[in-house]
Amino acid sequence: MRKCRHGLIVLVLALCPLLSVQCKKKESGEPADTGKTGKKAAKWTIGMSQCNLGEPWRVQMNLDIQNAAAGHSELRVIFKDAQNDSLRQRAQIEEYINAGVDLIIVSPKEAAPLTPPVAAAFDRGIPVIVLDRRVLGEKYTCFIGADNRRIGESAGRWIQKRLGGKGKVIELKGLMTSTPGQDRHIGFREGIRGSQIEIIFEADMKWLEPEARKEMESALARFPRIDLVYAHNDPGAHGAYLAAKAAGREQEIVFVGIDGLPHEGQVYVRQGLLEASFEYPTGGREAIATALAILHGERVPKQITLSSRVFTRENVDHGGEWLEEKGGF
Ligand code: FRU
Repeated sequence: MRKCRHGLIVLVLALCPLLSVQCKKKESGEPADTGKTGKKAAKWTIGMSQCNLGEPWRVQMNLDIQNAAAGHSELRVIFKDAQNDSLRQRAQIEEYINAGVDLIIVSPKEAAPLTPPVAAAFDRGIPVIVLDRRVLGEKYTCFIGADNRRIGESAGRWIQKRLGGKGKVIELKGLMTSTPGQDRHIGFREGIRGSQIEIIFEADMKWLEPEARKEMESALARFPRIDLVYAHNDPGAHGAYLAAKAAGREQEIVFVGIDGLPHEGQVYVRQGLLEASFEYPTGGREAIATALAILHGERVPKQITLSSRVFTRENVDHGGEWLEEKGGF
């Protein structure tokens, strides 16, 4: 443990390190180590705050972290789920600071509300890895994520090509107080610039499938012709598809999403529900590799940008196609 602010914790730690491990295991919902298992106590504790576990993508991120950490007995990772509530997530980070964890990994729900607690941890000398969605400013150790602007722009180019440069498009946006929503929107608009694509309807579906379905129902009621739906994530694209199917119009509309999980987006593409899904890697494995480097005292880059692929019916069984530098899709 690196930092302990509370006298009680300091005392407990000083008197009985094993007891502190037991307390923390209870807090994380794991069974307490009886001390008789012969298992060596981990050297470092990582506190992970996940903004929610409602979407398959976030469950996968936690799994990627867990699997990557499993091979390192010197690491123990505690997971907390903020249940899509920024206030709860702020409190979780404060709890990690007070508990004196060695490192924090956070995938924030929203940028602004999560900035102060992340900065507070950083100022106290606790390294913080920010995953997928950003916070504001520079007070964190390392940001890991794919380039959402580039993904949005590639989607825009792909859509331009698919529609032959013109058509009526709906944009279902991710939570616009989170940075991937903002970047996937800005990038997309750049990607369709100069075309005759018309955005006839746009709505913030907050990354949620039921919200996307509801928004799509309104769009279907208003517009007799819709050529394509660009949704900022695959749950959103799927929600829109379900609304169109219920209205008997799914065949006349092309659906495009983002995430490209093997058991979600890639399946939708194979089934023909989506024509394309752009991969958004979770970064879980890279987060553990980076955490280990930091804990061993190595310097790490401020930003690690992950690459992504596009999956279409033609390429999904061959591993998709990597997004190229500008000028690709
Ligand atoms: C899950 C999710 C993903 C999306 C990511 C953006 O909560 O909505 O579908 O790609 O978050 O941060």
